[in-house]
Amino acid sequence: MSNPGDYSAVRRDIVAQLKKPDYDDGSAGPVFVRLAWHSAGTYDAESDTGGTNGAGMRYEAEGGDPANAGLQHGRAFLEPVKEKNPWITYSDLWTLAGVVAVEEMGGPKVAWKPGRTDLVDDSKVPPRGRLPDGAQGADHLRFIFYRMGFNDQEIVALAGGHNLGRCHMDRSGFEGPWVNNPTRFSNQFFKLLLKLEWKPRTLSNGVQQFNYVDPDADEDDEPLMMLPTDISLIIDPSFRPWVERYAEDKDLFFDHFAKVFAKLIELGIRRDEKGVIVNTDNVKGGYVSAAKKSNTATGPPKNEGGCPRAQGGCPRARL
Ligand code: HEM
Repeated sequence: MSNPGDYSAVRRDIVAQLKKPDYDDGSAGPVFVRLAWHSAGTYDAESDTGGTNGAGMRYEAEGGDPANAGLQHGRAFLEPVKEKNPWITYSDLWTLAGVVAVEEMGGPKVAWKPGRTDLVDDSKVPPRGRLPDGAQGADHLRFIFYRMGFNDQEIVALAGGHNLGRCHMDRSGFEGPWVNNPTRFSNQFFKLLLKLEWKPRTLSNGVQQFNYVDPDADEDDEPLMMLPTDISLIIDPSFRPWVERYAEDKDLFFDHFAKVFAKLIELGIRRDEKGVIVNTDNVKGGYVSAAKKSNTATGPPKNEGGCPRAQGGCPRARL
């Protein structure tokens, strides 16, 4: 059991959870990054609601959102860390896990500050429908990310998160990894977007994505994929120059990714000059660390062979 405030101990315990030989590509890193991003990506600048403060995914209203399908695995992988460091809030733990995972997988160091609090009930959980829909295009990306306060360059840098991990048919309806080494953070996603020929493909569940058909691949090799939103990054005239720059210059991408991911996990958080969070929830309730949850992953129900939200098809598969 660590002392309250010993974030180095928490970091070490997160690192110890990364290796997962029986899970996906052998690492919990990608799902930790997605967990941190989804905990933040509900932010709405106008109403100043959503964002990482609160850890609303502990409640069915947010955790059970089909857009969050699969993240129950990331949350369950972090339960042993919560057990060893019960003083940490889930909102700090999930954001720190994303930052540690990026770094451990070879990515840049992302600035992280503690102090988020956990909601005490689900009354402030943001409404569903605020996360992006991979089946759409550039206008949709702007609609979603401008709402959080990002610009076009930041959207492209953030989308570079797809250097990691994979799509799962029983989670989002999409299928496959974006890059050959999905547990190594790099700028490969941008290089492949520009270099390979992406062909539209309709999956057995009716969902449309893009695949690279490698003429030299063996029959059981898994094809690389792109979401329609990823492809929009090379079609849109304002996004494309950033894809080109990040494909050419890994250091520039790492620098921009570190900045934008740090901004993402701070959305909606207000701090005083000492860095102490002054959001009303924190001021009224203090740094409330919610009680530990179960170690078993429970999440949105699986829908055999298709998109979890699909009712007769998956016309708007979400991540
Ligand atoms: C630009 C809008 C985005 C869309 C439409 C989108 C969509 C998706 C979808 C459909 C999946 C597959 C989920 C599954 O089936 O398991 C996914 C996975 C993932 N996304 Fe995104 N995403 C977006 C932005 C981001 C951002 C900003 C990040 C982080 C900076 C990110 C990081 C990831 C990671 C790491 C995975 C892999 C998770 C795993 O392997 O379990 N995505 N995303």
